[in-house]
Amino acid sequence: MKILGIETSCDETACAVVENGRRVLSSVIASQIDIHAATGGVVPEVAAREHVLKIRAVIEEALQKAGLKLGDMDAIAVTCGPGLLSSLLIGYSAAVTLARVLKIPLIPVHHVAGHIYANWLDLAPQDEIQFPAVVLTVSGGHNELVLLKGNIDFELLGETLDDAAGEAFDKVARLLNLGYPGGPAIGRAALKGNPKAINFPRALVKKNNFNFSFSGLKTAVLREVENFHRQNGKLTAKFTNDCAASFQECVCDILSEKLILAALKHEAKEIHLAGGVSANARLREQVMEKMSRLPAGTALRYNKNLQYCTDNAAMIAGAAYYLYLKAPKSYNFSAAVFPEPQLDLYANP
Ligand code: KG4
Ligand code: ZN
Repeated sequence: MKILGIETSCDETACAVVENGRRVLSSVIASQIDIHAATGGVVPEVAAREHVLKIRAVIEEALQKAGLKLGDMDAIAVTCGPGLLSSLLIGYSAAVTLARVLKIPLIPVHHVAGHIYANWLDLAPQDEIQFPAVVLTVSGGHNELVLLKGNIDFELLGETLDDAAGEAFDKVARLLNLGYPGGPAIGRAALKGNPKAINFPRALVKKNNFNFSFSGLKTAVLREVENFHRQNGKLTAKFTNDCAASFQECVCDILSEKLILAALKHEAKEIHLAGGVSANARLREQVMEKMSRLPAGTALRYNKNLQYCTDNAAMIAGAAYYLYLKAPKSYNFSAAVFPEPQLDLYANP
């Protein structure tokens, strides 16, 4: 089954063609990073306008790279939320139009379900995911621990009570004048810094609490930066690198600790990392270091292709395949579904 996926929930205009939920035939991403770097973050109206300008060319390029035509598609998948409403609407309008003209099913996909299914992309055919799996999905806009009991059988174990970890990376990068997006910039600065230089607070790290909170950490970084300014004037490279390394160490410690505790509690056969922050090398390392606390044979998965960690459309087409398999009759070309920025599809997608 060949599915054309469209993703426009934030600042990437993306389209992909994926076969049977795993084989990526093409994946095209038009990033708006250069535009939003100028404002230090995403301005929703600007993002939506860029989606309008790019969407058609991105869809055409995805088909061309796959060597296929619209008529070869079996279904259209689209991110229906959560995200910026004005951005979601652009991808959604394109998807609805295509599904109706081609008379093929339209499959709305929860953005986080997409991130979760990014770990299925490009898997070898004989490589089967073992359930239950505990997934840490961690991005700029969301931050959850999800128990995956089977395909499209999610249970939300915990989520952030305030900021997502990716958002904290972006805001701290701004405080340290490291640029946008903050995650990769902090990662690069941290390589030159001492992760033990500043002992930042680790909120909510205790057993049986799988929620996250990063706003206190953000304030603690702000206080360190203000103190440094007061005592020494301009930020030095040493302070910036040490602060980035200590902050990254703290976030990765919290994320990895909760993932391991959740995996132990739910006797997970696999643990997965997904979402933009899963591209972070130190997070992967910390999880690997802590895996010795899990039963032997527990598998760790993250997509080694960084393109599938951050927003992309292949993950949307991938998740759509499993949604469709579960309830094929639920999807048709004239479905009256609207984009919903605050969607909770976990209970029964
Ligand atoms: O999944 P994503 O592309 O968009 C959302 O769904 O939000 O994630 C983007 C987030 C940004 O906050 C970015 O700073 C963070 O992921 N990110 C990283 C890294 N690469 C991207 N954070 C830490 N380390 C990275 N290498
Ligand atoms: Zn995302």
